[in-house]
Amino acid sequence: TYVVTDACIACKYTDCVEVCPVDCFYEGENFLVIKPEECIDCGVCEPECPVDAIKPDTEDPDGKWLEINTKYAESWPNITVAKEKLPEADKMADVENKLETHFS
Ligand code: SF4
Ligand code: F3S
Repeated sequence: TYVVTDACIACKYTDCVEVCPVDCFYEGENFLVIKPEECIDCGVCEPECPVDAIKPDTEDPDGKWLEINTKYAESWPNITVAKEKLPEADKMADVENKLETHFS
């Protein structure tokens, strides 16, 4: 599966959701996740993200992002149409480790 990682937090550009053939993105307040059991591993979304937030889970060795994607995909609503990025997105794009400080 692919997973959405830290760079998405507080940015949410949403380009990714338009290309997914199985519509498996789910939307929180300031972050998106992929539902791992629905992702078919096609990889199409990875290059669409302007901040490289989407990674194959092979690049998530301790499984932290897989756990977060799995957990929130259970309760967040599905998103299939792109929307305006968050207002602070361009400013937040280069901030690291946003999970601890900006996730909501
Ligand atoms: Fe969707 Fe393919 Fe990305 Fe999985 S890898 S989330 S199926 S676009
Ligand atoms: Fe997030 Fe990138 Fe999609 S910032 S919403 S994973 S395009």
